[in-house]
Amino acid sequence: MGFLWGSIVLLCAVALLRVEGSEAQQTKNNVPRLKLSYKEMLESKNLETFEGLSNSSAYHTLFLDEEKGRLVVGAKDHILSFNLLNISKGYAQIPWSASPTRRDECKWAGKDVSRECANFIKVLQPFNQTHVYVCGTGAFHPVCSYLEVGKKPEDGVFKLEPHVENGRGKSPYDPKLLTASMLIDGELYAGTAADFMGRDFAIFRTLGKHHPIRTEQHDSRWLNDPRFLGIYLIPENDNPEDDKIYLFFRENAMEGEHAGKAVYARIGQLCKNDLGGHRSLVNKWTTFLKARLICSVPGSNGIDTHFDELQDVFVLSTKDPKSPLIYGIFTTSSNIFKGSAVCMYSMTDIRRAFLGPYAHRDGPNYQWVPFQGRVPYPRPGTCPSKTFGGFDTTKELPDEVVTFARSHPAMFNPVYPINHRPIIVRTDVDYQFTQIVVDKVEAEDGQYDVMFIGTDMGTVLKVVCIPRTSWHDLEEVLLEEMVVFREPVPVRAMELSTKQQQLYLGSDIGVSQMPLHRCEIYGKACAECCLARDPYCAWDGTECSRYFPMAKRRTRRQDIRNGDPLTQCSDLQHQDELNGLAHLQDKTVYGVENSSTFLECIPKSQRAATYWQYQHSTNDRKQEIKSAERFIHTSQGLLIRTLEKKDSGIYLCQAVEHGFMQTVLKVNLEVIDSEHLEELLHRDEDATSHVHARDFSLPRETPNQKLWYRDFLSLVNHPNLNSVDDFCEQVWKRERKHQRQKSHAVQQMHHQQKAVVNPHSHMHAQGLASKWKLLQEKQKGRNRRTHELERAPRSV
Ligand SMILES: *[C@@H]1O[C@H](CO)[C@@H](O)[C@H](O)[C@H]1NC(C)=O
Ligand SMILES: *[C@@H]1O[C@H](CO)[C@@H](O)[C@H](O)[C@H]1NC(C)=O
Ligand SMILES: *[C@@H]1O[C@H](CO)[C@@H](O)[C@H](O)[C@H]1NC(C)=O
Ligand SMILES: *[C@@H]1O[C@H](CO)[C@@H](O)[C@H](O)[C@H]1NC(C)=O
Repeated sequence: MGFLWGSIVLLCAVALLRVEGSEAQQTKNNVPRLKLSYKEMLESKNLETFEGLSNSSAYHTLFLDEEKGRLVVGAKDHILSFNLLNISKGYAQIPWSASPTRRDECKWAGKDVSRECANFIKVLQPFNQTHVYVCGTGAFHPVCSYLEVGKKPEDGVFKLEPHVENGRGKSPYDPKLLTASMLIDGELYAGTAADFMGRDFAIFRTLGKHHPIRTEQHDSRWLNDPRFLGIYLIPENDNPEDDKIYLFFRENAMEGEHAGKAVYARIGQLCKNDLGGHRSLVNKWTTFLKARLICSVPGSNGIDTHFDELQDVFVLSTKDPKSPLIYGIFTTSSNIFKGSAVCMYSMTDIRRAFLGPYAHRDGPNYQWVPFQGRVPYPRPGTCPSKTFGGFDTTKELPDEVVTFARSHPAMFNPVYPINHRPIIVRTDVDYQFTQIVVDKVEAEDGQYDVMFIGTDMGTVLKVVCIPRTSWHDLEEVLLEEMVVFREPVPVRAMELSTKQQQLYLGSDIGVSQMPLHRCEIYGKACAECCLARDPYCAWDGTECSRYFPMAKRRTRRQDIRNGDPLTQCSDLQHQDELNGLAHLQDKTVYGVENSSTFLECIPKSQRAATYWQYQHSTNDRKQEIKSAERFIHTSQGLLIRTLEKKDSGIYLCQAVEHGFMQTVLKVNLEVIDSEHLEELLHRDEDATSHVHARDFSLPRETPNQKLWYRDFLSLVNHPNLNSVDDFCEQVWKRERKHQRQKSHAVQQMHHQQKAVVNPHSHMHAQGLASKWKLLQEKQKGRNRRTHELERAPRSV
């Protein structure tokens, strides 16, 4: 009897993965509304991939050529060119490896042959209408050349000029080092290391008609083991003479700036028309200044948590080219505390820091203090131009200005983020941010900046920050979390094409492409579309689709700020209900008295909270089921510990999100009482025991055991009986139909048993178990569950 009981419990009830206690309504912050696996992304056609060449890797340098409709990718020993529409539609490749001599030299210098002694492409910058400037590490011997791409897309040109230039000061020697580069007016600005040892870091300007120029050498006040992340040109005003180049990097704090070793995030500035000094700082920048970028969260104990390891920067242009928004991605330096943050900076705050006091100290044993003395004129950091008058080129700067500039490259005041805090912080997750791109999206109720954040686990987060009452109070909405690479590798490069509405991603193992939006995934009802709060999507009257600001007004429903389907969709409620009911799951589940059962309910939105209602029959009053001894709410559903006969009835799973309630599941639970069950099982056993006696000679075999075996097998082998519910239903119906119909199916089952199983082997139970699991997994659209198969046949 004990065995019988166990087996039925096994079949009709389910073990739980995780019981989260009675408080199922946990906070849903940081939980993506939609989570899409790699498989789901591929199957829904939301991901195109290039899986990499067998003799290459490090697809880290992307150049988006929207005009010619190409994505140029720099990797190990190769330059590749893809169709922007669809990167899976083939590609062109140019192998560009280091010469065998260079490789040998690199090897003799003690470097790793496959990971270091190759030509890793680090620079891809548009040079002119027809050519792209390209540089690689050249097996620890940097090289550059010109890549011809043609004038028009239809030219189909893709070839490398045979002439190779020295790449020193353009590409690093060591492929592990990052390089930031930018080609403006025929001149290449690059932050990189210019020596084999990777110690001489500098910001260079090369190519073009001027003499190359760089930062002061061997002066840790200027640069202290920096890692460059981005270079941008941002105009200061309408006079191009005042144009400034801004650099983003992280580096070791200056000596005396911090007790002990620390990494700081920095923004550096330079004048585009800087030609270096005349007597001092010859061929060195005379307008270089740097300031610290702060990204920190105030702690309850008064100590701030700092995110100092700048990882990536995105400069989002606004209507005013002088004041783009700066988005920075930061991680913590701590080994114990893993966290990431996004901070946003305004150009006003950045310029204010550069116009503030210079950091000064009187000697190695002094503190850094704000410089209080007289600052020479023109103020160091100011570009030579008519705007401020006085001088035409940096070569005319008075000696005292150059001398001051040389010893005061750092500003005393740091730059704080807008609102003095990050807009996004992640500290409780197993991934860290690596890359960011931002898209400005026009929605019905305003403009939103949608962030795409790459992580070190091969995923992309799509996040929008929505002002609650003002810009000082932002609500972070994590719209989607998507797996974009087949392995959990860091996302190393990211480019967004507004024209194509696509995102391109680079990693060690390949290149991926995904659309910026997939509105149809949010659901088939107005309310679902509205709740998603995706600025790209709106309810167009029939479906959730891409929102276009130009389209007709009347039919569009969208509410990003509040995500309130009641105001947006109330007149459509009826229709929604129809739509809703069409995909509302309605099913019958059987349970056995005194056993436990689990009603699974996972709403599509991971942000929704669920609660359960019970109704004895259709027209009865609905009551909320509170978590109690017998009923346990979990994030996956409702667990009923010990079924009682009176638990039969209708269970409604309600998903609540943003104040909007939706019924997502309706379960009709029928509790079979033990008397009926016993009766039923004994009767069945009479009918079939002789078959089992022959087929199964298990030790201490009881009739019930045999029956269980048969039923178990029926579950495994019969194509129409591939679920627990179906099985229980069958048993239940058989009972009701008053037996004696030894069906054709049962006989067939016996046939199959012989073919499939070897009853003497214990192994075979495990085989069945996995087979059953497989069957369960195959059930499309059905509940995912864990069945307690360990308790199978032997545990009498
Ligand atoms: C991209 O191209 C591949 C190969 O031709 C094709 O299978 C795939 O459907 C295309 N994807 C899209 C989104 O058009
Ligand atoms: C890598 O393999 C491809 C063929 O898959 C070949 O065309 C290419 O020349 C190889 N690259 C190098 C650098 O040898
Ligand atoms: C672009 O630059 C390359 C390399 O210097 C040169 O060969 C080519 O003629 C230039 N093209 C145009 C259109 O100026
Ligand atoms: C079910 O539980 C009730 C109450 O504990 C008990 O009286 C009854 O005998 C149990 N039935 C079975 C079949 O174990």
